[in-house]
Amino acid sequence: MDSYVNLLENALALLSWVQVRLLKLVDHKKAELIGKLIAKLEEFLKQADDMELIHRGEKIHALMAILQEITKEGAIIENQHMESLKDVIQELTRGPLYKRRTLIRESEIKERVKELARLLRDEINPSKTLVLGVLRGSIFFMVDLLRELNMPLRFDLIEAKSYGDKMHSSGEVKLHRVEELDLKDKIVLLVEDIVDTGHTLKAIVEFVKTQKPERLITCVLINKLERREVDVQIDYFGFRIEEGFLVGYGLDYADRYRCLPDICVLEPV
Ligand code: IMP
Ligand code: MG
Repeated sequence: MDSYVNLLENALALLSWVQVRLLKLVDHKKAELIGKLIAKLEEFLKQADDMELIHRGEKIHALMAILQEITKEGAIIENQHMESLKDVIQELTRGPLYKRRTLIRESEIKERVKELARLLRDEINPSKTLVLGVLRGSIFFMVDLLRELNMPLRFDLIEAKSYGDKMHSSGEVKLHRVEELDLKDKIVLLVEDIVDTGHTLKAIVEFVKTQKPERLITCVLINKLERREVDVQIDYFGFRIEEGFLVGYGLDYADRYRCLPDICVLEPV
């Protein structure tokens, strides 16, 4: 992870070296452009986190390749090299970059999960209950909840997919792993990470009901009200959030940030 930071720091050092060389050659125009590229890259490096850098790894390698070529002994810095440098740095530093702001701390999550477990414990008969987690976002929450419930419970998993790499729902929800589930006559405790438009939970609730459970209880960690499009059964929720795109504690953006202990909001910089 660290290596991309190192590579970019090397790139900055090489760019400074190129700038000095151009000044010696009295090529002020090129030297000035290099100065601008250095400033741009420095600004980018200040804001980008490790994940952003990994994501842009190929471009970082492309930049290093150009720099290696023009810093070879006896190399001449052509206009074409300048163009390639400009292009690759532009692509590398192009937004959106996000910064993470902690919204709910690990300790607050823990407290709330404890409270939810206390409420749920009175409602469920462990021998009849199946806890159903939704892959992949709800895993952390489900496991913590199971441990706090501290009952001889069974659990299973269903997979719901509605999100691409973007921050909004595609509306269409696909369910997987449904054949493996045995929900008939069970008390199903459905555990989900976040409800946004409501389409995902609605699709799962509808599926569960077709399996004739004795009862369905839904428990979601985050009830996000910003973009609710359909009414959906939420019996318990951990936190109510008005808006923002959240990551951490299982929640992802393009499959990243799931393992953060806190829940953070991603904000464009
Ligand atoms: P919905 O169908 O729009 O309610 O979206 C539900 C699904 O979208 C959740 O199961 C999450 O996987 C994902 N999702 C919605 N909002 C967020 C968010 O703020 N961060 C991460 N994932 C989200
Ligand atoms: Mg999900």
